[in-house]
Amino acid sequence: MRLIIRLMGLAILLATTAWTFLTWPRLPTAERGHRLAQAQGCFTCHGEGGLKGAMNPGRKDKSVPGFGGDVMMYAHDANDLREWIRDGVVKRRAQSESYKQQRAAGALVMPAFGKRLSGPQIDDLVAYVQAASGDPEPEESDTLATRGLARAEALGCVGCHGAGGRLAARNPGSLKGYIPSWDGADFAELVQDRGEFDGWVRHGVSDRLKDNAAAGFFLGRATVHMPGYEKHLESGDLDALWAYVTWLRKVR
Ligand code: HEC
Ligand code: HEC
Repeated sequence: MRLIIRLMGLAILLATTAWTFLTWPRLPTAERGHRLAQAQGCFTCHGEGGLKGAMNPGRKDKSVPGFGGDVMMYAHDANDLREWIRDGVVKRRAQSESYKQQRAAGALVMPAFGKRLSGPQIDDLVAYVQAASGDPEPEESDTLATRGLARAEALGCVGCHGAGGRLAARNPGSLKGYIPSWDGADFAELVQDRGEFDGWVRHGVSDRLKDNAAAGFFLGRATVHMPGYEKHLESGDLDALWAYVTWLRKVR
């Protein structure tokens, strides 16, 4: 009797462990930063997603910078971004008299988050700002990966997979609770090779998962589904998208 109870206990333990492992969220860094940015109020000044800054009367630049194209005017690299977020300014600028005047003249001032956030949290925010601003991007000479990114934007993949396929929006009812990014840890489980990738993009699911009952349960239950793009692909799209995703997974 005791043995049976022990075995049952062990079986339950194993099942919960397997379950926890399967459903354990492994959010990509940039998505952690995205959610933290939302929670910390960054988007009140930098706009939804950080993409369109609010008007900032009194300043020559008129509005709060977004994390999109103009980010490079303010921050040259990840270290600059870290300084901005931690100290509310970069050392380089803090010395300049004209900058100090501008900072004092504007209605909105960048707060220093180093007082309330830890180093790793600030790193997550940096990863988000980088993803939102498309940094890094493939070298121009890597024409296939560059084209893949352009096609991912044109086909609307980034609506669900986030800027550059680097985010993980919430997806209630799905296995992990979010849409897997292309550079995250879940990708390798979902896409074992090029053939499976093509399956996902063409049909919205890989052949392997299509025939798997447990996977089918979750794919069916999720709020948002991966569409099949078969009808919408131009020739060369799969090669280009794959080249981009391969590049992304190398640089992440
Ligand atoms: C009260 C408004 C406000 C809030 C809230 C705010 N910022 Fe800013 N932020 C600014 C302003 C204004 C600037 C421009 C700085 C300057 O020139 O003095 C700026 C600049 C920046 C920059 C450098 C320029 C750029 O766009 O890359 C980064 C990065 C940044 N903020 C990130 C963040 C993050 C991350 C958060 C949340 C953790 C945040 N900000 C919250 C107002 C704000
Ligand atoms: C409407 C939202 C949506 C759009 C648009 C979308 N996907 Fe997905 N994608 C998903 C979801 C959700 C999953 C997870 C599987 C599922 O639940 O169906 C997924 C999974 C994937 C996967 C599996 C691996 C992983 O980690 O992401 C790949 C690869 C993928 N999508 C590529 C693409 C490409 C390429 C495009 C554009 C041609 C695209 N997706 C457009 C929602 C979307």
